[in-house]
Amino acid sequence: MNQPTRDLSTVRTVLGIESSCDETAAAVVRDGRMQLSSVISSQIDRHARFGGVVPEIASRAHVEMLNPVIAEAIVQAGIADAEIDAVAATYGPGLVGSLLVGVSAAKALALVWDVPFVAVNHLEAHLYSSMLEDPTFELPVVVLLVSGGHTMLVHWEAEGSYRVLGGTIDDAAGEAYDKVARYLGLGYPGGPVIDRISLDGDPEAIAFPRALPDRPYDFSFSGLKTSVVNHVRKHPDVSAEDVAASFQEAVVDVLVTKTRRAAADVGAKGISIGGGVAANSRLREQILTVCAEDGLAAYLPDRANCTDNAAMVAAAGWWQLQRAGESPLDTGADPGLGLGSPAA
Ligand code: KG4
Ligand code: ZN
Repeated sequence: MNQPTRDLSTVRTVLGIESSCDETAAAVVRDGRMQLSSVISSQIDRHARFGGVVPEIASRAHVEMLNPVIAEAIVQAGIADAEIDAVAATYGPGLVGSLLVGVSAAKALALVWDVPFVAVNHLEAHLYSSMLEDPTFELPVVVLLVSGGHTMLVHWEAEGSYRVLGGTIDDAAGEAYDKVARYLGLGYPGGPVIDRISLDGDPEAIAFPRALPDRPYDFSFSGLKTSVVNHVRKHPDVSAEDVAASFQEAVVDVLVTKTRRAAADVGAKGISIGGGVAANSRLREQILTVCAEDGLAAYLPDRANCTDNAAMVAAAGWWQLQRAGESPLDTGADPGLGLGSPAA
C-alpha cells in the first residue's frame, strides 16, 4: 500500500536505523551514496560474558540507546530534523524484539515528521555498503556477504536486480570464527582476535580441510570447526597462533576461491564484500590480489561499514524508495526474512 500523493523524487536525505542484532545504529545518508554521519553503539561488552548475543539483553539495550544514537547521528550530520526526507529501518532478518525497537522508532519519527517510512532488508543493506562513498562503484558485481549469521554469494546484476548464487549449508563464516575462538579461550567475538593473533602464526602449519569442492557456490564450515577441535585435542601444546592462522587460511581460501569463480562465471566487473567477516585483514588482502590478477574492481567497504551499521540501511532505503516507494506503516518485523528478490 504505497501513498502515491507524496513526490518521492525530491527525497535526498535519509535517516537510517539499524537494531537487528547487537548494534544500535543510526546514520544520515544523502542521495543513497553520501554518508553524512554514522553512529554505532555496540553492545558487545554486555553480551561478552555470555559468549554470544542474549536476545532479551539486546532489545533492552536498544530501547536505552536508540534515542541518543539517533540524536547524535543528526547532530554529526550537521542538519536539522526538518531536512530529513525519509526514515529507513531494518525490519529483518534478526532478533524480533530488537527489530521491533528500530522499526517502531522509525515509524514514529516518519509520522511525526510527515515523511516516508521504508522497511529495509538487512541483508540487502549489506550489499549497499560497498556503494557508500565510492563514486566508482559499478554493477554488475559478485558480493560475498559474510557475517555471524550469513555466508552467501550474490550476483548483483543491476540496481533492483540481484540473485543469490549459493550460501552456507551449516555454520556462517563468522559463527565458525566465534566458535573456534571460544574453544581456544580467546573470547567473544572471535573474528577480530583470530584476525589479530594470526599475524603471529603460520597459515600453513596445519592443513585444515576445504569443504564442498564440488559445489562451486556453497560453503560448509562446521566440519572445519570440528577439525580444529580434534587437532587441538591431539596436540594440546600446539600454538594458538598457528591454529588461528591455519584456520583462517582455510576459511579465506574457500571464500576467495568460490567468489573468484562466481565472478568469472557470471561475467561480473567487480567483487564486493560485506558483513562483519569482511573486516578480516587476510580476506581483504586476498580479494585485492585476485581482483588485480583477474582485472576486476575490488570494492572493500571501510571496516566500520562492514559490520552492522545504519549508513547501509539509509543507502538501501533511498534506492528502495526510488524503485518501490514507501513501505506501509503496518509493516512488522520479519525475523526470518531471507535475501530473495528486491522489493519492487
Ligand atoms: O555483520 P556482523 O557485525 O553481525 C552479524 O552477524 O550480522 O558480523 C559479526 C561477525 C562475528 O561473527 C565476528 O566474529 C565477525 O563478524 N568478525 C570478523 C572480524 N570482525 C568481525 N571475522 C573475521 N575477522 C574480523 N576481523
Ligand atoms: Zn549484518
